[in-house]
Amino acid sequence: MLRDTLKTLLAAYGPSGKENTVAETVKNLISAHVDSMRVDALGNLIVEKLGSDENGKRIMFSAHMDHIGFVVTHIEDNGYLRVNNVGGINPQISNARHVVFENGTEGVLYCQPLKGEAMMMKHLFIDIGAESREEAEKLVQLGDMAVYAPDYFELGEHRVASPAMDDRCACALLCELLMYLDDPRNTVVGVFSTQEEVGIRGAKVAAYSVQPDIGIAIDVTAWGDTPDVTLPSVQLGKGPAVKFMDASMVATPAVRDAMLKAAEEAGVPAQREVLPFGGTDGAAIQHSRAGVPTGTLSIPCRYVHSPAEVIDMRDMEGGLKLLLKFVENA
Ligand code: CO
Ligand code: ZN
Repeated sequence: MLRDTLKTLLAAYGPSGKENTVAETVKNLISAHVDSMRVDALGNLIVEKLGSDENGKRIMFSAHMDHIGFVVTHIEDNGYLRVNNVGGINPQISNARHVVFENGTEGVLYCQPLKGEAMMMKHLFIDIGAESREEAEKLVQLGDMAVYAPDYFELGEHRVASPAMDDRCACALLCELLMYLDDPRNTVVGVFSTQEEVGIRGAKVAAYSVQPDIGIAIDVTAWGDTPDVTLPSVQLGKGPAVKFMDASMVATPAVRDAMLKAAEEAGVPAQREVLPFGGTDGAAIQHSRAGVPTGTLSIPCRYVHSPAEVIDMRDMEGGLKLLLKFVENA
């Protein structure tokens, strides 16, 4: 079940560069459904499901395992931790949050009084309950990373919220795709990539080694359906979105159109996405070696990069059907 797979993946600790727990979780979910699994030097988990046709294509799907977080830069004498952002963090959104480190140490992220300045990362500190630097260092070291504490709740019948939805919802989709693909003609390579949030680093080296004929990134996109927000023109629950363009890539027209055709054939409503900012693993795949025809499937997501990123499970179900049809048609 898509919802159970998603829930399992959302619980795993995994800021950029420390994705190994997520990789282990993915391995446990899909080992029985793939022909090979390996982890490369950057921590990417690369799995292959071999196609029956030796002249078939090699299709790479990429979903990033990492999510945004906070790295400890300094520990003060009174035991408070100072942090910097790992990936795109808005300091305002981070104030007064429950955070957790890899070893389970929990903390409150809070902002000091501002004295007229705009809130910046330097104003934030983590209170882990320590009363001195020595006490703090028994729990957390400089360089350790915290993330928004895992949380999962349902909104109405179709929607779910969690801090790590970007991009564990795509990891869940890719896991389910590998589970449901039954004896495909084309070879499918699933890349569970690392360090997307700090500059699309994992997918870059993975695409180089995988050498795909076609690339598809799966990621969340922004939303245009809450008060005073109209761009991008994407709504939750109206189907997965096929990316036309964002700040990192222009989707290869042939791949983009094949995705729209797959949606139509699968009876899935699909939205067209034009995002005036942002980027995905798709850019790294498309620009790999001599270039790879690449598209991106987006799951509409509200409040991206907050502790309560919201998606609609109908868009996930539609995405799965679209991708299954895409692999069949390729
Ligand atoms: Co992101
Ligand atoms: Zn993402």
